[in-house]
Amino acid sequence: MRVRLPKIDYANVRPHWAPNREFAHNVNASSTIPAFVEPYLIKVMKLAKEVLPTTEAELHRDIDIFIAQEAQHFRQHNGFNRRIRDAYPDIAPLEAKLGEDYERLLRERSLKFNLAYCEGFESLGPPAAMMWFEKYDDFLVGADPEAVALWKWHMGEEFEHRTVCFRLFHALYAKSLWGRFWNGWLFRVYGFVHAVRHLGAYSKAVRRVLVDTDRRGMDASALEQSRANARIFAEHLKRHTLPQLLKVFSPFYDPGAKPEPRGLSEYLRRFEKGGDMGIPSAG
Ligand SMILES: [Fe+2]
Ligand SMILES: [Fe+2]
Repeated sequence: MRVRLPKIDYANVRPHWAPNREFAHNVNASSTIPAFVEPYLIKVMKLAKEVLPTTEAELHRDIDIFIAQEAQHFRQHNGFNRRIRDAYPDIAPLEAKLGEDYERLLRERSLKFNLAYCEGFESLGPPAAMMWFEKYDDFLVGADPEAVALWKWHMGEEFEHRTVCFRLFHALYAKSLWGRFWNGWLFRVYGFVHAVRHLGAYSKAVRRVLVDTDRRGMDASALEQSRANARIFAEHLKRHTLPQLLKVFSPFYDPGAKPEPRGLSEYLRRFEKGGDMGIPSAG
């Protein structure tokens, strides 16, 4: 685990950065999430560090790297998201509401609940990394390389730090046998369901704005193509991620046991000193 500082210029990235525009919009909607959830994650992790015993030295160190990685993630997404918001200003109120949701969670809910939500969000990382490294190739032919670099780097690091929040939650709330059952399993699953429902509803609303804005200018055949594109991607996503997401419900769920997606470590090295930042022509 290490902090990498990508240099990616989003000035020329198009909102329709992939040939299947509905796939691109699905990803665009997801891209607006880190801008809000990751600053929130960082706040929750900092609060948790205050109560985590100093004897947990390795975990403290890993949380620090986690925080530094997330800080880079949302900064990069902010650069990309400007391109989306400029073209689709109607998403701004939805984004503002998401930011308010996190302020309310921090204000009104316990640290345990907030950490369970964070772990719920984090458990989406490995399935997403698997999609980006192994299952999206057909959708990425002809795509703008900056958008692909942003996501593969981000999901690579999400995979890399996938155990940190899980270990933290267990260190604070699931040490005893009862804690492992009640908090380590049931409460963790409760946080996952909350995060998935919350972010699922949010990203669906943003995607609707993006896709519907495009569809307003379409003739019948373009509209039919748009619907087919959306259906193809939705089926692909469901087929590959649903089995992964169901594993989170298991009392034996362990993100550390997940196999690394193909080529992930090699890809992340491209974002280290002297690397091409995921964009071969820039190297
Ligand atoms: Fe992240
Ligand atoms: Fe993360």
